[in-house]
Amino acid sequence: TSRERLLVVANRLPVSAVRRGVDSWHLEISVGGLVSALLGVKEFETRWIGWAGVNVPDEIGQRALIKALAEKRCIPVFLDEEIVHQYYNGYCNNILWPLFHYLGLPQEDRLATTRSFQSQFDAYKKANQMFAEVVKEHYVEGDVVWCHDYHLMFLPKCLKERNRKMKVGWFLHTPFPSSEIHRTLPSRSELLRSVLAADLVGFHTYDYARHFVSACTRILGLEGTPEGVEDQGRLTRVAAFPIGIDSDRFIRAFELPQVQDHMKELKERFAGRKVMLGVDRLDMIKGIPQKILAFEKFLEENPNWRDKVVLLQIAVPTRTDVPEYQKLTSQVHEIVGRINGRFGTLTAVPIHHLDRSLDFHALCALYAVTDVALVTSLRDGMNLVSYEFVACQASKKGVLILSEFAGAAQSLGAGAILVNPWNVTEVASSIGYALNMPADEREKRHHHNFVHVTTHTSQEWAATFVSELNDTIVEAQLRT
Ligand code: UDP
Ligand code: G6P
Repeated sequence: TSRERLLVVANRLPVSAVRRGVDSWHLEISVGGLVSALLGVKEFETRWIGWAGVNVPDEIGQRALIKALAEKRCIPVFLDEEIVHQYYNGYCNNILWPLFHYLGLPQEDRLATTRSFQSQFDAYKKANQMFAEVVKEHYVEGDVVWCHDYHLMFLPKCLKERNRKMKVGWFLHTPFPSSEIHRTLPSRSELLRSVLAADLVGFHTYDYARHFVSACTRILGLEGTPEGVEDQGRLTRVAAFPIGIDSDRFIRAFELPQVQDHMKELKERFAGRKVMLGVDRLDMIKGIPQKILAFEKFLEENPNWRDKVVLLQIAVPTRTDVPEYQKLTSQVHEIVGRINGRFGTLTAVPIHHLDRSLDFHALCALYAVTDVALVTSLRDGMNLVSYEFVACQASKKGVLILSEFAGAAQSLGAGAILVNPWNVTEVASSIGYALNMPADEREKRHHHNFVHVTTHTSQEWAATFVSELNDTIVEAQLRT
C-alpha cells in the first residue's frame, strides 16, 4: 500500500546548510524540538519545505543546494538577507517569540520595535507568501499540508486562498498565551484570522488551545465551541496534541559501542561527583541564569556538597543575530565565571558550561550518566529535553527537576520535582532533595515518567494529528 503523502512546512528544515564551495554544500542536523520530533515521524511519505538557514544569492549555489537537499527529501525556500532580518530576526524572534512566552521586551527596545513593527509584519507576510509559492509548486492533489509554528501563522490563509480543497493543518510548538497578551499585538486579528483558515489547529496542551479559542472569541467576536471556532457556519477544529519523542531511538542507542565508550569516559571524568545536567538552546525562555543562580545558592548553603557535585550546562547558540540573545550569552558567561571563581579549586570547577551542540550519541551518553536533570524554562511549549532525559535513564533512574511552566509539567509532573524557576530558594532546596533522594523513590518517579515517554511518541503524535485532520475534512463535507 502506498503511504499517505505529507508536506511538512516549517521555517527550519531538519538540516541546515553550510557552504563549502561555489556549488558544494555541507548539511548539518538542525537543533530544536520541532526538528527532533518531526524526524521521529516515519509512517508517511514525507517531504519537508523550509529555509536552510543560509542566504544563497546566486543561481549556481541555489541549484546545488536544491540537489543536495533533495536527497533528504527537503525542498528549500530561499529568503534573502533583508527578509531574514525583518521576518526571522525581527517579527518572529524579537516580537512573537518573547510575547508567546510571556517575556516582555526590554524597555530600550520597546520604542524601536514599535517603530519597525509594520515593516517587520509586512516582511512576515511576504515570507509566508514565499513559503506558499513553494508549497504550490510541489503540492499534489490529496496531499496533507501540515504547517508548523509561529513563523507561519499567515500560511494557512495563503494556501486556502489558492486552493480551497487543500487539506491544511497548523500546529504551534510554543505556548499560546492568554488572550490578554495576544491582544497587545498590533496584528492580533490578522494573525488569528489567517490561522483559522486551516482545517485543524493544534497545540501541545489544552490550556494553549483554550487561550487560542478565547482570543478568537474576545478579539474577533467569533463563537467558541467544544470542537473549535465557528465563523458563519464554517468550523475550524481546535485541539490539543501533546508532542513526544522517538523514545526507541534513544533506548536503542545504548546498544552502540560508541555510546558505551562515551559513557565510560564521562563516568571516569566525574568519578566521585554527582552529575547535574542542563541542555538548552541559549534562549531567554530557558531560564539558564535562574538555574545557575539556584545552583550557586545550593553550593552556598551546602558546603559539604561543593566538591561532590558538578553542573554540566550545554547551551547551544541560537538566533545569534538577535541582540537579546547576544546579551543573554554574555550575561550567562559572566555568572558562570563568577561562580566558578567563587567555588572552584585549582583542580575542579562546579560548572562546566559548553557553548555548542553535541551529536546524538554524545547527548545520549550524557543523559544516561546524569544524576539530576534541571529544566528551568520560564515558559516552554513542551520541552523535549525532559522527555529525552527520562528515555535515557532506564538503568540510572535519576531525578528530573522540571519547571511548572513547561508544557511537559502536565505529562511528567507526577514523576518530576516541579519547581517555579523564579523562586531560587525553592529550586536550590529541590536540588538538595533530588541529590539525597532514596533509590526507591527515584525508581517510582522514574517509572511513572518512563511509561509516559515510551507510550506517547512523536510517531503517534503525528498520526493522531493527521487522522484528526482527515476526519475534520470528511465531517465538513458531510455538513455542507
Ligand atoms: N539538541 C541537540 N543537540 C544539542 C542540544 C540539544 O540536538 O547539543 C536537541 C535536543 O535533543 C532536543 C532539542 O534539541 O530534541 C531541544 O528541544 P526542546 O523541546 O527541549 O526545546 P527547543 O529547543 O525546541 O526550545
Ligand atoms: C523552537 C521553535 C522551532 C525552532 C527551534 C530552533 O523549538 O519552536 O520552530 O526551529 O526552536 O530555533 P531556530 O530559530 O534555530 O529554528
